[in-house]
Amino acid sequence: MNKKYTIKEVSEIFNITKNKIRFYEKKGLINPERDKFNNYRYFNEKDLIKLQTILMYRVLDLSIDDIKDIFNDNRKDNELDHFYNQWEVINSRMQKMKLIRDALKELMDIIYISDNKEYKGKMVDIIKDMNETYKLKEDWQDKWDFDTWSKTYDETVKKDPGSLKIYKNYEKLLNTTFKTAIRDKTKDIKALDIGVGTGNLSKLFLEKGYNIIGLDQSREMLNVAKNKFPNLKLRPGDFLKIPFENNSFDIIVSTYAFHHLNKKEKKVAIKEMINVLNKNGRIVIGDLMFEDDKEKEKIMKSLTKEEIYEVEDEYYSNIKFLEREFKSYGKKIDKVRIDKFNFIIEVN
Ligand SMILES: C[S@@+](CC[C@H](N)C(=O)[O-])C[C@H]1O[C@@H](n2cnc3c(N)ncnc32)[C@H](O)[C@@H]1O
Repeated sequence: MNKKYTIKEVSEIFNITKNKIRFYEKKGLINPERDKFNNYRYFNEKDLIKLQTILMYRVLDLSIDDIKDIFNDNRKDNELDHFYNQWEVINSRMQKMKLIRDALKELMDIIYISDNKEYKGKMVDIIKDMNETYKLKEDWQDKWDFDTWSKTYDETVKKDPGSLKIYKNYEKLLNTTFKTAIRDKTKDIKALDIGVGTGNLSKLFLEKGYNIIGLDQSREMLNVAKNKFPNLKLRPGDFLKIPFENNSFDIIVSTYAFHHLNKKEKKVAIKEMINVLNKNGRIVIGDLMFEDDKEKEKIMKSLTKEEIYEVEDEYYSNIKFLEREFKSYGKKIDKVRIDKFNFIIEVN
């Protein structure tokens, strides 16, 4: 006969209170048998396994509702979806904590070095800056709806329907980005592809045996990439909140993604990339750019109304601005022009 356990025994096995067990029962996560006469709970082996699973999910800080949903729909994809969500929740919390910690570091230094009168004003500035950065990180929105686009993205790239023909050198841009990134690097490096989309750039790394992780803010893009390349490691995440520790990567690459950030967001994203990049690491970005304001003005004058709208719907980089930003971290940019709008910048 299968062994049955009392609530006291179960609480001892898992080292949790009886109240906690009653709470999970009240929430409908477990449903132990009741004795007909005394109404005592009796737990079988299955209940124990379920309780162990609940406790494991609680360690990951999943909510009761999340756990309920995983129990109700036990497909692998559903569980993955909950883990993706939780990864983003935890990353957002960590990002906020890091900002607070950095601000506190600055505040402590200000108190040490300033005299009494001036330091209050500086404190306000530091906290204001921190709040602005936090807001930028939280407020970015996908106004292009990449989730919907994911199904037809590869087709669109091939057909290149816009009149600017921004994808006419798609393959060349990806191949050059790849070759530039791995130049003089050994195979044991770690690479990150931000805005991985349907995985076409990461594929080049995978095929040659490099260790690459793809990051994207769009779940559906990640799903398409996973179906195309089951071996590709993928994570949900955002340029503005890169969910990895400092000094994690030797190479960061990105194609056709950086132009979805405005100037202020680009500044934050550059800082994020520099943080997760190893000291001698390399960033290679293949994307839509202008050399500088003067070139932008000249090119814009030559475009039709629809084409101007197409450009202004996004945020093509200004290479001079990128040079200045990366220089503030001691980095230098080399650029290669692929065509009128497409450049590759290499940051070392
Ligand atoms: C035009 S697709 C490019 C995909 C792929 N890199 C390629 O070259 O084919 C742009 C991708 O960048 C992602 N993306 C846009 N903004 C992003 C952000 N702030 N953080 C992370 N990914 C972003 C989109 O979700 C989309 O998958």
